[in-house]
Amino acid sequence: MRTMLTGADVYRDGRLRREDVIIEANRIAEVGAALPRSGMDNVIDCSCLVISPGFADAHAHLREPGFSYKETVASGTEAAARGGYTIVAAMPNVNPVPDSLDHLMQSLAVYDRGASVRVRAFGAISRGENGQTLSDMESLAPYVAAYSDDGKGVQSGSLMREAMLRAGALNKPIAAHCEDDTLQGAASEWRQVERDLLLVKETGCKYHVQHASCRETVDLIRRAKSEGLPVTCETAPHYLCLNDEDTLDDGRFVMNPPIRSREDQAALIEGLRDGTIDMIATDHAPHSPLEKSGGFARAARGIVGLETAFPALYTKLVMAGLISIERLLWTLTAAPRALLDEPADIRAGSTADITVLDISTPYTIDSNTFASKGRSTPFDGWRVQGRAVTTISQGRIVWDGRR
Ligand code: DOR
Repeated sequence: MRTMLTGADVYRDGRLRREDVIIEANRIAEVGAALPRSGMDNVIDCSCLVISPGFADAHAHLREPGFSYKETVASGTEAAARGGYTIVAAMPNVNPVPDSLDHLMQSLAVYDRGASVRVRAFGAISRGENGQTLSDMESLAPYVAAYSDDGKGVQSGSLMREAMLRAGALNKPIAAHCEDDTLQGAASEWRQVERDLLLVKETGCKYHVQHASCRETVDLIRRAKSEGLPVTCETAPHYLCLNDEDTLDDGRFVMNPPIRSREDQAALIEGLRDGTIDMIATDHAPHSPLEKSGGFARAARGIVGLETAFPALYTKLVMAGLISIERLLWTLTAAPRALLDEPADIRAGSTADITVLDISTPYTIDSNTFASKGRSTPFDGWRVQGRAVTTISQGRIVWDGRR
C-alpha cells in the first residue's frame, strides 16, 4: 500500500518546503517536490496543511498504574494522538513508582496493553519518590529514557549528587522537578536549579530541567550552556501563554510550579527564542473534576495539556510574531526527541511518525470534546488556530480528524 500526502509544507531539517511524502507500510518511502503519482494506491490532498514529524512530549502524566480514575494510558495516549503527539514520556508518580525492575514492568505492561502512541518510561530517582534512598537505577536503565522524581523536588543535595554519578555512568539524563520545600515563590525553583548545576559541573551528568517557570532559571540555564555543561531545559505552554494577571481563582489555573509574573513569561519566551529553553513539554496532569474544584485553596495541582499545546502555542506565539513556526516545531519535535533518544526526521527510510497540521482554520477549544479524562485547562474557550488533523504513529493512523 503506497499512500502519497501531497501539496503540504513539509517541516524537515529545520525548514518548511512544499513537498510530497510517500508512505509505504510503516515507513516513509520518499520525500520530494512534485513526486510522480503513478503507482499510488491512495493520494491524500494536504494542500494548505503542514506536515511535521510527530510531536514528542517529554513530560506527561498518564496516571497508570494506580490512578486510572484520573486518566488511563488509553485515554492519555488518545489525547496525545489528537494533539499531534506520537511519543510521550510518562512521569513516574504512579503506583507502584517505577523504582525497581518489578515495579517498572508493571508500568510497561500497561503501556503495552493500552497505548495508541509510543510511550517512553521515566524511572524514579528515589525509592517511592521518597527522596531518601536511590531507586534501582542500574536495573531500570535499559528501559527508561531518564530518571526523575517529578511531582517533588529532591531535597537532599547528597542524594542528588549520588543520583547524578550513577545516571552519568549509565549515560542517562537526570530530569529534575526543582522545588526546595523550605523556600517560597520562584526561589524554591531556581535555588534548586542552582544547586544542581554545581553538581552537574562536578559529575558531568546530563541534566534536564523540567517545567521551568521563572526568569532566574532561564538565566542560570543560559549561563550553564555558555560554560558548556550538558544541560537541557523545558517549559510548558501555560508559562509561555499566560502570566499571573491572567489567572482566576479556579482549578483551571492551579498547577505546580504556578503561573508567574509577566516578566517571567517574557524571560521564558526570550529563552525559547535564543535556544536557552530547548523544548516545550505539556506537563499534562489530569485530575478528576472533584479534585479540581475549590480554586487555589483546594484544587489538585495540574492541568491537562496534550490537546491544547499546539493550538495555544501557535496562536499565542507564532501568530503574534514572537517565534517562528520553524522554531515552535523544533521545540515540539527534534529537541524532545533528542532528550528521549528517539530519531526525529522525515526522510526516506525512516519510520512514518507524522503529524498533519491545519494552521489556518480558526476554532474554539472545548474541553468537553477532549479524549483525556481530565478537563481542567486555562485554554478552554480560547479562539485558536492550529490543529492536528491526522496523526500517524509507526505507519498507523492514530488520529484522523478529517473523517
Ligand atoms: O501541576 C503539577 N501536577 N505539577 C507536578 O509537579 C505534578 C503534577 C501531577 O502529577 O499532578
